[in-house]
Amino acid sequence: MRGHVRIGGSKNAALPVLMSSLLTEKDLLVANVPHLRDVTTTLELLGRLGVQIEVDEKSVVRVNAAQVHARRAPYELVKTMRASILVLGPLLARFGEAEVSLPGGCAIGSRPVDLHVKALEAMGARVSVESGYIKAVVPSGRLRAARIVFDTVTVTGTENLMMAASLADGTTILENAAREPEVVDLADCLSSMGADISGAGTDMIEIRGRTSLGGAHHRVIPDRIEAGTFMVAGAVTKGEITLHDLNVRHLDAVTAKLRDAGAEITLGDDQLTVSMGVRPKAVPISTAPYPGFPTDMQAQFMLMNCVAEGSATVTEHIFENRFMHVQELHRMGADIELHGNTAIVRGVDRLGGAQVMATDLRASAGLVLAGLVASDLTTVDRIYHLDRGYDCIEEKLLQCGADIKRVADAALPQLRAVQ
Ligand code: UD1
Repeated sequence: MRGHVRIGGSKNAALPVLMSSLLTEKDLLVANVPHLRDVTTTLELLGRLGVQIEVDEKSVVRVNAAQVHARRAPYELVKTMRASILVLGPLLARFGEAEVSLPGGCAIGSRPVDLHVKALEAMGARVSVESGYIKAVVPSGRLRAARIVFDTVTVTGTENLMMAASLADGTTILENAAREPEVVDLADCLSSMGADISGAGTDMIEIRGRTSLGGAHHRVIPDRIEAGTFMVAGAVTKGEITLHDLNVRHLDAVTAKLRDAGAEITLGDDQLTVSMGVRPKAVPISTAPYPGFPTDMQAQFMLMNCVAEGSATVTEHIFENRFMHVQELHRMGADIELHGNTAIVRGVDRLGGAQVMATDLRASAGLVLAGLVASDLTTVDRIYHLDRGYDCIEEKLLQCGADIKRVADAALPQLRAVQ
């Protein structure tokens, strides 16, 4: 594949930034918001709480939470998007009460929210679970600062607590905090709203609570996972793809692995070019919190190893059960052996096309990439997973010469890719 792709705004940054509008009665203007199912779900959730939403002709989203009349995130929205838990911190901090449905089953593991709850309890919230809902109240009326040490690095947990602490009484310290760029982006947005936050991007964040926050204008950072996915697309198809409007510093771990695989990567200020003249070499992958190798890129690299020269292990440390794509890749002729959280992948000369099923967001991206290199037609079912996180993926791949089509009239939404 050859061509140019513009990278959109980050899904995982846009969601918490939009949720942070709940902390103020003033306007929050958010630019570079991607067109994705999870963003629509977030806006629907905010709308149900009473937040006013407008989108202008430049796709800037104006959110205003002056008239919030509900405090409840219902099951039908939470079950489709776990990030709905991000309303818990802001609602509790501003209104002293919140109800969020428990997310229920999730394809990539149990994904609990116990650390969010424990930390909010440490700040004075009283939390119970009733009829499948987390019900939280702040008996004193205002959350109080606390020193919180997260047992595990949690991205949305860090974000929820950063938002809650912005309106709490006193100075909160978050230790073992997530260092992801999306956490830094949220801290930047909150700071523009008047919050007093230092240390975002390190594992210790300090937040001095304010009595109120104001409005702000914020531009969401580029999506490093969308960028990484297109980098792998360029490498596996032995092509050359230039990506525009991205932050190359957020992609260090991915860039290093692709170079190990044999790709040539030229970095500019906000663009990069991946070119690959040879078959990729298999590279070992081990997922870890940022700045380690992202779990959201594991499926795409697993696919690359499937068609690479040699064999390598892929170890998943963040989510149990995030290997649902393995069964589907087997059906295309991949040679993968699973041992607990480690997969041994032996490269094969060629994958064959097949009808496969998307099981979660990033697994679906791996399957689409598999379709690009398979010898004949691949059909990916259940691409609503893909639409949660990739804006016009098939149009962007088409621009680079892929033979791919959204099959609208099928019983299930499908993408078809032919080599
Ligand atoms: C976020 C991202 C997701 C990414 C993940 C890891 C968003 C909207 N989603 O998910 O795309 O794959 O980070 O980079 O930003 N855990 C607990 N208890 C908790 C919270 C988490 O045990 O209360 C565990 C999880 O089961 C998991 C690990 O901590 O094993 C990390 O999860 P976490 O960082 O919270 O993932 P999310 O924030 O849900």
